[in-house]
Parts: sequence; C-alpha cells; structure tokens
Amino acid sequence: MAEEPAEFIQLLRSQKAKLIEILSGDADFVLQHADSRNLLSPQGYEKVKSCRVPSEKVTDLLDHIIQRGPAKAQGLLELLKDQELQETFPLLHFVKDLQVSTPSSGRIVCSLFFRNLILRYSDMQTKEPASLCDLNEPLIDHSEGQHFLNETFKIIMEEVLRKGTDIKEKVCEWKEPEELALLLDLELRATGEPRHRLLQRVKDVAKYSIKTSHPRFFNQQYGGVDYHSLAGRFLTEALNTNLFTYEVAPVFVLMETEVLRGLRQLVGWTEGDGIFCPGGSTSNMYAMNLARYRLFPEVKSQGLWGLPQLTVFTSPESHYSVKKGAAYLGLGTDNVILVKVDDGGRMIPADLDEKIELAKSQGAVPFLVSCTSGTTVQGAFDPLDHIADVCQKHKLWMHVDAAWGGSVLFSKQHRHLMKGVDRANSVAWNPHKMLVAGLQCSVLLLQDTTNLLKQCHSANATYLFQQDKFYDVNLDIGDKSVQCSRKVDCLKLWLMWKAVGSDGLAERVDRAFIHIRYLVEQMKKREGFHILGEPEFVNVCFWYIPPSLRGKEGNADYQDRLAKVAPVIKERMMKQGTMMVGYQPLGNRVNFFRVIVFSPLVSQKDMDFFLNEIERLGNDL
Ligand SMILES: Cc1ncc(COP(=O)(O)O)c(C=O)c1O
Repeated sequence: MAEEPAEFIQLLRSQKAKLIEILSGDADFVLQHADSRNLLSPQGYEKVKSCRVPSEKVTDLLDHIIQRGPAKAQGLLELLKDQELQETFPLLHFVKDLQVSTPSSGRIVCSLFFRNLILRYSDMQTKEPASLCDLNEPLIDHSEGQHFLNETFKIIMEEVLRKGTDIKEKVCEWKEPEELALLLDLELRATGEPRHRLLQRVKDVAKYSIKTSHPRFFNQQYGGVDYHSLAGRFLTEALNTNLFTYEVAPVFVLMETEVLRGLRQLVGWTEGDGIFCPGGSTSNMYAMNLARYRLFPEVKSQGLWGLPQLTVFTSPESHYSVKKGAAYLGLGTDNVILVKVDDGGRMIPADLDEKIELAKSQGAVPFLVSCTSGTTVQGAFDPLDHIADVCQKHKLWMHVDAAWGGSVLFSKQHRHLMKGVDRANSVAWNPHKMLVAGLQCSVLLLQDTTNLLKQCHSANATYLFQQDKFYDVNLDIGDKSVQCSRKVDCLKLWLMWKAVGSDGLAERVDRAFIHIRYLVEQMKKREGFHILGEPEFVNVCFWYIPPSLRGKEGNADYQDRLAKVAPVIKERMMKQGTMMVGYQPLGNRVNFFRVIVFSPLVSQKDMDFFLNEIERLGNDL
C-alpha cells in the first residue's frame, strides 16, 4: 500500500525528542543541509539560524518543517537517510529503518534494529539483552578514534608545524576575548559532536593559538621546535604513565636516572641525585625545602613551630619563584634578603657576605643562598665561584637557579659563565627553555649522596611503595617527589639528546650566542636602538627611541613618553601578527624590550626582520 503523506508528519513528530538529542551535536550542519533542499521558508531559515542554543535550534527546525506540511517532513526524513548525515550522526542509523504507519495498522512500524535502539534509550535496566551486549563491547570505537587521531595529526602537521613555522605566516591571530570565545564555541554540552565538527575545533584551536615555534616568536624563554623532542612528547602522552614506580614505568625510571646522570656530569658531579620537577619554580622550591630540612630535619614532623627566623639570600634580579617559595614554605617573603647587584645585574659577593653577617647579628639564621645563572630579564650570571666562597664560610646551602642559563654547560666556549657551579649543593635547570625540549622539562640536580631528597619528602605509602616487591624497591623513585602522579618529562630530552648528541646541543647554544652578537652589532649601527648594557647571554634588553624622542633625553617628560613606546609597538605587532617580543620595566628603568634568541629555527634574516619590524611599528610614535 502507498505511504500516506500525512503520516510523515506523525512519524517525524514521534521521533522529535530523539532527533533533537542527536542533531544538536551539530545543529548548523543539519540546518544548512535542510536549507539546501528547500525544506525551510526564507523567514523560517532566518529564525532558526538566529537561535544560539543548539537543542533549541533543532527544535525550531523540526517544528518549522512539520508546520510546512507532509512533503517537507518527508523531505527531512529523506535528508536524514543521506550518507553525509548518516556519517556525521552515526546514531541516525535508525532512520533508515523507519517506516510510516499504514492507515490500517495506525501505528509506527519499526525494524528489529530500531526497536533495539529504542529499548536501549528508553529502558536500559529492564532490557537485559541490549545492556549485556553493550557491556561486552568497549565504549570507545577504536577505528573511529584512530581515524580521528590521524586526521588531527594531519592538522597538527599542517597548521602548527608547517604554517606555524613559516615566516610568511602570522605568529598570532589576535582576537578580542569576547570574539574569540564566540568563535571557539567553548560551552560544553550534554551531547557529543560529530567528527567533522571536532576536526574543525582542532583547526580552530591551532588557528587562534600563538605559534610559539615560529622563528619570529621572541616573547618567552621557551619556543621553537625540535622534532625529536616533539616525538618524545607525543610518545609520552600516548603511553600515559606515571613516574613513581618501576612496575608502571620501567623504561622511564631507568631513563630519568640516566638523563639526570648526564646533566649532573655537565655540572661536574660524578655522584649525586636529582628529580624532574614540573617547572623551574618548583625546582627552586624543592631546593629551599631541602636546604631547610638538612638544617632542621625535625621540620618534617613538627612543622615550623620550633624553628628560628630563617633567611634566604638572593639578588633582586632573581626569578620571582624564590619569593613565592618563601611564602609557600612558610618562611615569609620578608625573610628573602636581596643582595646588591652590579651594573650587569650580577650578585655582588661582598654584599652577600655583609648581609649574612647582618642577619646573623640580628638573630636570624641564614640557611640558603639562591644564585642565578642567566637572570630572567637581563640574562646575567652571578659569580658562582665567589659566592661559593661566601657559602662555604657561613656553611650555607648554595642553590643555583640555572633554569634559563644552565644550557651553557653544553658549550665549551660558554660554560665558563657558570664557573664554580660544581661547588653548589643544588642546581635547577630547564631544558624546556634554551634546549627547546618542550614544556615542561625541568630538573633539580643535587650533589647530595645521602638520599636527602627521599628523606625529606617520603610518606612511605604502603599501597604504592610496598617493600616486599619482587624487584629492587630502590627503583620506586616516586617518594622523592612531593607529588604522587608525576609526568614523564625525561623522554623528550633523552630522544632529542640521542638524535643530535651533546655536540649538537652545544652547537645550538653557540649559534644562539652568534645570533645575539650579530643583533647587538646591528642595533649599534641603527639610530633608534639603545641597549641597556652589553649582553652576557642570549637576552638583549633595549629601548627603541622613535625619531620624535631622539635628542630629547633632557626633557622632563622623556621617561614618561619612552615608557609608552614599547606597549604601543607590542600592541601593533600582535594585532598584525608579525612577531612577538616581551617588554617590562626593571627597577627605575622604564619599559624596555627584552629579545631572546635561542630557537634553532631562527636565522640571521630573522634578526634583520626583527630590527626592521620594530622600526616600522614604532617610527611614527
Ligand atoms: C631564572 C629563572 N628561574 C626560574 C624560572 C621559572 O621556571 P618555570 O617557568 O619553569 O617555573 C624562570 C622562568 O622564567 C627563570 O627565568
């Protein structure tokens, strides 16, 4: 018997709730397809399109089509059987088996497949066969998941690694936050989205994110890309394990131990200990905690109650994590005593000695000197050898924050900058910065051979660190950490180091110094560039003086006007997306740029571009 047109409306209406749930995953996609088949009136299309909530959009769409009559309802049902729709919404499979009721039966006829589907949706508890069937299948579709991952990799290769490192492409695609939030459609919903939509989201994330691998990203102390290290990062994510016991991370327990040994060797230690930490700030805090524990082991069980006033010494140019650490560990930021620096931003050992004596005379107990190898802004190296003399004299823990500068240890030519580092008790070093190992990769290295790290942090959890395991329990390194779950951060460095060797890493460090020397020479040849001081490392700090300010140094408003230059240039470069470089004030010096060069992707041409671009963006100010 021929199908009765009016029954299409009834059929569509009867499936409305389910269709809303399924189609809300990509309401716009259905709307566009429905419109392309002329299922909506122009006004109806506009009304449905203007609706922002996907479930309401689909409801409006269905209602509108139902209102337009049986032919349109039939058209929609045909559309829902279309291959593209079926692929986009796999749950729409049931529509293929839908039939309209005949006038004689007066009910909807479903195929067996459709009935099972309805049972699953409506009454899972009572329909045991369907539930059992579900429970015997994985909840994730492997082939779909792996297909999605392959497609995602293609996008990563194209958008992040090819375009993201191409100097003809932008470093950033600036959007105001409100606009960006709308573009990204961040809201999380009850129903999942189809593959094509998710891949679009992957593209959007790539498009609107900063391209930190781009040769013209000079903004931060990380950036660039090393493909072997990136492979290590992907592999780490895929293996998804935890660096606390040998049983769940056999490869990485051994690997971390070896990488730490290799780094310690560069410091000059044949023995010692260490741990990968989530960032340099944490590495610095570990050092602080260990130094205190060495002096007052009872702090672990009794807390701070019985302790004297403990003081830490560092320079005003040290990283702010020293102060954060003092606050976090209950020492108090007032007990971080700032030691004077010379014109280049290096700690003055004589002043350190005086400040320690003064603190002692006031009843405080100095316990830690935190020196810096490669200060964050100026790239200064504190004179470690002389500071070591002072630490030795006063029996203080010497910590070297080499988060930024530690990588000079690879270079025969530049490792002298850290002369005396082997006399330190601890060294923090971030291979995710200059070595381009990828975030995060930070180590705390220790000269200690007494297992201080474990004594200080262990909690001996018996569910994890059983002492009667079938292998050497010393391989369960997790209790050295203040964390429980600890990410594997050694693989990315290990794979990169294997790929290029210590010589390859040294070459990268040396090349960065050559780029910086070139940049400084060029700046000196140009009128508008005024460097704050000869760089010791790969940071160049400079003011750009626009023509309108040249020769006006004596004017009362000169500093105020100069302070406004860098922020405007920065805004312009970000809005145009041509490059990124940071600026800051420091002490009584008004806003100046800090350009840092270390990425192996950067060429001399990028140095020229950098200078030209600053001039182009700032000449009219
Ligand atoms: C000298 C120095 N120490 C420590 C840190 C902090 O490292 P992270 O960002 O990994 O916590 C930085 C980062 O800028 C730094 O420059």
